[in-house]
Amino acid sequence: MTVLVTGAAGFIGYHVSAALLARGERVIGVDNLNPYYSVALKRARLKQLQAHKRFAFHRVELARPGRLEALVKRARGVDRVVHLAAQAGVRYSLDHPRAYVESNLVAQLEVMETCRALNGLKHFVYASSSSVYGRNAKLPFAEDDRVETPQSLYAATKRADELMAYCYAHLYRMPTTGLRFFTVYGPWGRPDMAYWLFAEAIERGKPIKLFNEGRMRRDFTYIDDVVEGVLAALDRPPADGGPDAPPHQLYNLGNNRAEDLDRFVSALERALGKTAKRQYLPMQKGDVPATYADVTAARRDLSFAPRTAIDEGLRRFVDWYRDYHKRR
Ligand SMILES: NC(=O)c1ccc[n+]([C@@H]2O[C@H](COP(=O)([O-])OP(=O)(O)OC[C@H]3O[C@@H](n4cnc5c(N)ncnc54)[C@H](O)[C@@H]3O)[C@@H](O)[C@H]2O)c1
Repeated sequence: MTVLVTGAAGFIGYHVSAALLARGERVIGVDNLNPYYSVALKRARLKQLQAHKRFAFHRVELARPGRLEALVKRARGVDRVVHLAAQAGVRYSLDHPRAYVESNLVAQLEVMETCRALNGLKHFVYASSSSVYGRNAKLPFAEDDRVETPQSLYAATKRADELMAYCYAHLYRMPTTGLRFFTVYGPWGRPDMAYWLFAEAIERGKPIKLFNEGRMRRDFTYIDDVVEGVLAALDRPPADGGPDAPPHQLYNLGNNRAEDLDRFVSALERALGKTAKRQYLPMQKGDVPATYADVTAARRDLSFAPRTAIDEGLRRFVDWYRDYHKRR
């Protein structure tokens, strides 16, 4: 049978697709290849995937009503869906709110409608985010903490995605799992994220911007650890527990460590063999001072065990980053 991966040209979608192919699955990847960041990078990821015979790619705008459903019906055999397409990024949401409603709410509805129309769907897995925890003071963040204070429209749409998914699990008894990712980094990563922007600036001798005067803590999670968590979740659809317990589950996928931003930059300096010019700036709108994942539930149910230390993860990112730019 076949796994549909949305956002397959994106950072996490690319890695999840590659891991599924590596274990012998058939994968249909969809993406609209939007220009939020380098389309060349998205195409380069796809090129790797297209080397596999069991991978098929379709360029689809998910928010267009019925488009995905028609494609999936034609393709036949899809029994699991991993929905990773989204408009990501907290800062961009301050100036481009419509992109978030379109790609995170309208598109998610279309993906869920496609799932509802599928005969024999085994599992719908979708991406949420640590940003749903907002400025919660209780650390680490656990799945049953209250999440009612989103600090950005991005966070609000991710929380809405969770509620929409819960509703479909309840109404249509659709086995559904939401994964709250915590600052994922690694090779083939995202050029809009801090670790990439920092690496780029340090390589060029330019200053890096540390917001909230550097007093930030993030739970940085290495991509391979996240992918293991996604596949483990995909393989374990939640059971239907009756009217009051629909088959919906939420998991934090984080590294279970809140890393000081300064320590993170030092590790990046070591990986690059260069010193950063640090520029300390006030807190940015929409941002949160800390993220830190309690992964007890994922450890218990998914045997999730992130094992990549920040030094090792950043070394692998820098090796890839330099190689990628040399080739281009
Ligand atoms: N990377 C992280 O640190 C992180 C953290 C928390 C949550 N997430 C979530 O994980 C998921 C994957 O993130 P990522 O880092 O791979 O982001 P990404 O931007 O690299 O990938 C998302 C992909 O979705 C595609 N896409 C966006 N809107 C679309 C639409 N309307 N129709 C079709 N395709 C569309 C984009 O072209 C892109 O290739 C997203 O839902 C994101 O919000 C990521």
